[in-house]
Amino acid sequence: MSDLDTSTSYPLHIHHHDPNAKYDPPQHLIDNAHVKSFDQYQQLYQLSVKDPEAFWSKLAEQFHWESKPTGQFLNYNFDIRKGPIYIKWLEGAKTNISYNMLDRHVKNELGNKVAFYWEGNDPGDNGKITYNELLVQVSKFANVLKKLGVNKGDRVAIYMPMIVELVICMLACARIGAVHSIVFAGFSAESLSDRILDANCCALVTADGVWRGSKLLNLKSIVDRALEICKDKGKPVDTCVVVRHLTPFENSNGVYTEDSPDECPVAKRPCTKLKISWSPERDFWWSDLMHDASEYCDPEWMDAEDPLFMLYTSGSTGKPKGVLHTVGGYMLYAVATCKYVFDLQPDDIYWCTADVGWITGHTYVCYGPLGNAVTGIIFEGTPFYPDAGRFWAVIEKYKVTKFYTAPTAIRSLMKFDDSFVTKHDRSSLKILGTVGEPINPEAWLWYHKIVGNENCAIVDTFWQTETGGHVITPLPAATKTKPGSATFPFFGIVPALLTDDGKEIVGPGEGYLVFKQPWPGIMRTVFNNHERFEITYFKKFPGYYTTGDGAKRDEEGYLWITGRIDDMVNVSGHLLSTAEVESALIEHEAVSEAASVSHPHHIKGECIYCFVTLKEGETFSDDLVKELTAAVRLKIGPFAQPDYIQNAPALPKTRSGKIMRRILRKIAVNDRDIGDTSTLADESVIDLLFKLRPKDA
Ligand code: WTA
Repeated sequence: MSDLDTSTSYPLHIHHHDPNAKYDPPQHLIDNAHVKSFDQYQQLYQLSVKDPEAFWSKLAEQFHWESKPTGQFLNYNFDIRKGPIYIKWLEGAKTNISYNMLDRHVKNELGNKVAFYWEGNDPGDNGKITYNELLVQVSKFANVLKKLGVNKGDRVAIYMPMIVELVICMLACARIGAVHSIVFAGFSAESLSDRILDANCCALVTADGVWRGSKLLNLKSIVDRALEICKDKGKPVDTCVVVRHLTPFENSNGVYTEDSPDECPVAKRPCTKLKISWSPERDFWWSDLMHDASEYCDPEWMDAEDPLFMLYTSGSTGKPKGVLHTVGGYMLYAVATCKYVFDLQPDDIYWCTADVGWITGHTYVCYGPLGNAVTGIIFEGTPFYPDAGRFWAVIEKYKVTKFYTAPTAIRSLMKFDDSFVTKHDRSSLKILGTVGEPINPEAWLWYHKIVGNENCAIVDTFWQTETGGHVITPLPAATKTKPGSATFPFFGIVPALLTDDGKEIVGPGEGYLVFKQPWPGIMRTVFNNHERFEITYFKKFPGYYTTGDGAKRDEEGYLWITGRIDDMVNVSGHLLSTAEVESALIEHEAVSEAASVSHPHHIKGECIYCFVTLKEGETFSDDLVKELTAAVRLKIGPFAQPDYIQNAPALPKTRSGKIMRRILRKIAVNDRDIGDTSTLADESVIDLLFKLRPKDA
């Protein structure tokens, strides 16, 4: 199947590893687990797909609903041939997610429980917040937002580091029915402004700056530039709230400068010399606004189908899509997946290392753990600072029981001596999760043996921004795992593998991964562009939700995700579209045309390999490569930086002018077995491109 070319997956595939070797759930998990056996999983699963109302209404009982659904429990159309796509769960029911994350637990006498430990970039810089305290802070900031004129349904952009105020801000939005739109604080000013403009945000919440490892980021200056762009485009943002994270002291102008004091007795850490500029009519310090805000804010009772948040994800056209999730279904699904996949228990210390700027942070740092009333960790730092043992030091410090990270982090940490891991006590660990990209068996086995001491369940969770929560995943006390396989569907998910012409593959085989019916956490639309939602996910195979990933089913029914089959690149678990990178390259004055493809990378999983055609009279040089690399960093963000840029005097095209990326992917990996080239307009470019490959590629 030509389109299912999976040559970029499994860069570290170990050939001597038996793909059918299975790992039993650890015995110590089973007695107390929510799902204790594969039989029990199968029974629950059957109910969940045959009678979704019976299954999900039972799970919905734990939440507070101000009123019951007025219509059907589930109402949907998944088939574009029959009319517009829509998905509605519990329509008419009223609730508030912040009430369910906070007030509900406080009423159940869990108010003194720690909601989050905060671990700063520097070991020793830390804090904690209880459910009681979090409720007060969320209420106060909700009142602040109201005072600033933010109303139900308004969009609030959030561009923040991993600090507790980030979660406070999300929940405060949810409390008053405002829609949060978080932008990962590694995106450039231009990417940030694109997202603010697309969502038409009325306010932006940020922080002065943040240390990531030994690198200082002046977030406020990036925000200033982004808001400048918004203003230039005729859509100014009137309100910007800034958390004082690094600059607790100010000079007489209210702004931190190089003359400010060195020591911060409040935070007990050195102050950072960070220059902040200030627009008094637009900018407000968070602490000033919070100072006299009232400590209680009534929750706004929202319809289950009202929007909760939007989060941008790369689209294959290059323009990011605002994936929209709604209150009721997302809440049910986030809380249920977190509970079952991490088998959450009241005494758990749960740590998901993802940044809240990505969907994994939304669901498994914020809403999932809070909904289950466990104690979570918000980690500001990086896995390598002050050394490559940081993750394991934090696990030891807080006695973490459930840990969730990305294959790219595992691969980069396994390069270091195992003693970085083993010198820390990890005996508290019970479940280890991974997410974001296919995990190669070698990394899986290292995670299992070295980190988990062969005593933990590994859950390789497949899902997407669009799915809201896990969709293909083992259950830790029920599923025998195979390294590299995400195994079986979660409750409510009916996967199928399709051939190119849309036929379902029965039994073992490989095809397009699709889902046949909705689950509560599925996205409802692309913000302001329902047509794009329908075209992207429901058009290619009518009647199914199309993931954009390929998958294999083995003889025993296990599912193995093979990676994206569209023009997306998954760099360290961050999805980027090749078109996005190309448009950044084409903006350079020397470039006439560009094409980028995914290339395997031993740490990042995939990286970006670019082909650029220069304008007449321009010459290809190392300096130009540097400039182009910088252009991509500036336009999208540092994580999007290409690893390889090669000179391409011409690109392989079909007679109708379509670039043949399949061939470029082969050239990128120096694979001469390029298959059928009969549709190429000019075959001679291929030899030339092989000759011009960069020496280090
Ligand atoms: C990939 C992240 C293999 C996949 C939660 C998907 C995975 C994309 C896995 C979504 C996994 C995520 N195994 N591939 N366990 N998890 N992916 O929207 O290609 O940032 O479509 O959501 O990541 O990325 P997103």
